[in-house]
Amino acid sequence: MSKVFTFKDEVALAKNAAEIISSAASESINKNGRFTIALSGGRTPAILYRLLAKPPHNDLSWKNIFVFWSDERCVPADDEKNNSYLAKNTLLDHVPIPAENIFSFPVKMPVSDGVKQYEKILVSFFKSELPAFDMILLGMGEDGHTASLFPGTNLHEMQGRLVAAVKRPGEAIDRITFTPQLINAAKNILILVTGQAKATVLSAVFANKEKNKYPVQLIKSSHLRWLVDEAAASSLKK
Ligand code: 6PG
Repeated sequence: MSKVFTFKDEVALAKNAAEIISSAASESINKNGRFTIALSGGRTPAILYRLLAKPPHNDLSWKNIFVFWSDERCVPADDEKNNSYLAKNTLLDHVPIPAENIFSFPVKMPVSDGVKQYEKILVSFFKSELPAFDMILLGMGEDGHTASLFPGTNLHEMQGRLVAAVKRPGEAIDRITFTPQLINAAKNILILVTGQAKATVLSAVFANKEKNKYPVQLIKSSHLRWLVDEAAASSLKK
């Protein structure tokens, strides 16, 4: 059963998320010599990324931290719609992480080639056909999507895959996303949800009335923690 932690507001939530990530990173580096994390896109993690770039978190052993993304929009890296753009501008450009530790999705090539290349990178880096990230960070949209797993898309075709090419209904750009299988293999999963606009869908997701109606319900792991603020939690049954 996943655990839900509620915070007064997005700043309190981000501070706690930074603590969780920092301690997980230190523990994993001490134990295994490295910490692997997949960051999420969207606006929610911006405060968190800025906190990780400042004391006390910025003195982590960044040379032992390896950063991936749980999804990406196939737009140039300097386009602010690119998910790695936010993380680089608020965090990665401000800490001593070696460039070779940052694995952005290859967005310049056709998306089918990008998927194959990223899957190869994951299997080779983790030396496993089903990589287990130390931490995967996710958000959730108002339609219950997470990463780029959207309602009404080819989620059933992702069986056995680590990464897939998708399109958000109504959006022209290609996207690449981690599959539920890859996400669920992680040792820690954090889903960050803030704001009143998410309250209705969060309540529906937790009510679980229609199994897997919402893609975020495909994230089923005992290592999953929901970090939500009071506004997003305002429709949850007490
Ligand atoms: C993306 C993200 C996506 C995001 C949610 C929530 O590419 O858009 O990966 O899954 O996490 O849409 O976005 P906000 O944090 O902006 O609400």
